[in-house]
Amino acid sequence: MISQLAEYFGPPKEGGFFVDAFCGTGAVAEAAAQLGWNVSINDHLYSAVISAGARLVSEEQVPFRKLGGYARVVALLNSAEPVQGFVYRTYSPVSFETCGIERRYFTRDNAGRIDAMRTLIAEWRVSGYINEVEEGLLIADLFGALNRVANIAGTFGCFLSKWTKQSEDNISIKCRELKSVCVKVQAKVGDVFEVPNTQQDVVYLDPPYTKRQYASYYHILETVALGDEPVVEGVAGLRPWKDRASDFCYKRRALKTLSNLVQSLQASRVLLSYSSEGHICMEDMKTELAKIGDSTMYPLGAIGRYRPNKVASSTGSDVNEFLIVIERSKLEHKTEHSKLMGSNSLEGCL
Ligand SMILES: C[S@@+](CC[C@H](N)C(=O)[O-])C[C@H]1O[C@@H](n2cnc3c(N)ncnc32)[C@H](O)[C@@H]1O
Repeated sequence: MISQLAEYFGPPKEGGFFVDAFCGTGAVAEAAAQLGWNVSINDHLYSAVISAGARLVSEEQVPFRKLGGYARVVALLNSAEPVQGFVYRTYSPVSFETCGIERRYFTRDNAGRIDAMRTLIAEWRVSGYINEVEEGLLIADLFGALNRVANIAGTFGCFLSKWTKQSEDNISIKCRELKSVCVKVQAKVGDVFEVPNTQQDVVYLDPPYTKRQYASYYHILETVALGDEPVVEGVAGLRPWKDRASDFCYKRRALKTLSNLVQSLQASRVLLSYSSEGHICMEDMKTELAKIGDSTMYPLGAIGRYRPNKVASSTGSDVNEFLIVIERSKLEHKTEHSKLMGSNSLEGCL
């Protein structure tokens, strides 16, 4: 999907940024940076901006000079003794002793190691041993490690009742391959309506298209990123997330919110990813965008639907993704009607 998408980015523009306004993991921003774009990343989740930022880090930004280099720092984290911190108390079976609910997100040992690693990273930062970029990189690397041993079916919305084989492995951080070339990166944690953008920029929009609220489904990553100890609720142990409830996840609000967003942007070129199975019917999208300006829709082929397990996987059908390209100059002059190119799955909607 990324390579198909990248065909529409266009060449990097002098003074312009590729703005990944709902950056999530940052895979798209990374592809733009590889094409030489300076990138701006934004998400309302801190954990997403940390993950995306780490994909863009170059070797020279993270020398880890005071601690003997990246590989040594990762080895230090991997050898940290477990501590009985927040993750241990809240997201391992120990939670039964503290709140009467046995949460099986992580084994006791792995949970204690996650606490130990996160504490070390925080201590290094406070004492000036690592800089902000190095801190972000290590937190993102910790995400990678904890994802590999989490006893979940894809997201942190719930844990599995039986331990998976991987969840019983010992958690271990791996060094990632760092970029050799550095592009300019701007990072912001905030609502998409507040993302700075200028006429020279390309803005990429990949909003949620189902009722799945990322803030609740990825709550543990957010807690590890922030390093705080929130009051959690329910069997899943959710941190307060409703202040990050996204309007794009509500069927009734999604279309108007998207239309307001596109209209508010300054960028000359706006790229919008959406799915034919999303809240907004492609026909409604076409009508709404036609009021704003000229847009072209490109089907991007089939990708696997989000599936929680193997059984569902074998029965599920494919989701069709679309990229809608909106040219700003045409948005401004509003001279042409929307030109939406059809596809098989679109026809069902028309
Ligand atoms: C479909 S995902 C983006 C996936 C991303 N393109 C990637 O490659 O991983 C949508 C993202 O939008 C974020 N989000 C949802 N509503 C938002 C809002 N109002 N402002 C900023 N970010 C939002 C979510 O936290 C989530 O990370």
